Amino acid sequence: MLKIAPSILAADFASLGIAVQAAEAAGADYIHVDVMDGHFVPNITIGPPVVTALRKVTRLPLDVHLMIEAPERYLADFARAGADILTVHVETCPHLHRTVQQIRELGARPGVTLNPATSLEAVREILPFVDQILVMTVNPGFGGQRYIPTMTAKVARLATMIRDTGRAIDIEVDGGIDHTTIGEVAAAGATIFVAGTAIFGHPDGIAEGIAALRAAA
Ligand code: DX5
Ligand code: ZN
Repeated sequence: MLKIAPSILAADFASLGIAVQAAEAAGADYIHVDVMDGHFVPNITIGPPVVTALRKVTRLPLDVHLMIEAPERYLADFARAGADILTVHVETCPHLHRTVQQIRELGARPGVTLNPATSLEAVREILPFVDQILVMTVNPGFGGQRYIPTMTAKVARLATMIRDTGRAIDIEVDGGIDHTTIGEVAAAGATIFVAGTAIFGHPDGIAEGIAALRAAA
C-alpha cells in the first residue's frame, strides 16, 4: 500500500489545524512535520509545541523529520509531544545505532534519512534496526524544490539492499514529489511519498492534490 504524507511546510501556518484536518479527511496516511534548526539546514521551522498542538487535531501518525544537529537531545521532547515516527539524518548521528535504539525506547518508530549526495552505504548497517529509510530527493531545507532525477536509481538500489535483509522496511521519498515524478519513484520501490507543494499548494485544493498523486503513482 502506497502512503501519502502531506508536508505541513507548504500549509498555511495561520490555519494549520484546518489544513491538517482537511488532509486527513482527504485520505492522507501520515502527517509529515519538517523540523529545521538553522544549523544542519539553512532554515528554521518548528519544534515540539507544534507537534503537541497537531496531536490534538488529528489521529494520523505524525511523521517527524528532524533536520537538526545532535537530534538525540530532542528525541524525548518530540516523543512526548506525540511524534509516532522520528527520522534522523545519518549526517547528524555519529552514534546512529544508539540514536535509533533511543527512538525505540521512547516508543516511536525509528526512521533514518540521507541527503542526496550521501551514499547508501551509510545506512546498510542500520537496516536491521529501522522501520523506514527516507531518501531525500532534494537537498533538505526548503519546500518547492525540483526533484533530483538521479534519486530514482538510488531508490531502486536501496530497494534491492532492503530485499536482501528480508525485513519489511518502508522507503520514503521527500522533495519535489508531484504528479510528474511520483510514478517513476513508486516504480523504483518507494512506498511513502512526502509532498508539500503538490498537496497544500494544489490550485484546486488539498483533496485534489492527494487524488492527483494517487492517480499518478
Ligand atoms: C525539505 C522537506 C520536505 C519539503 C517537501 O527539506 O524535508 O518535506 O516540505 O516539500 P515539496 O513537496 O514542496 O518539495
Ligand atoms: Zn521532510
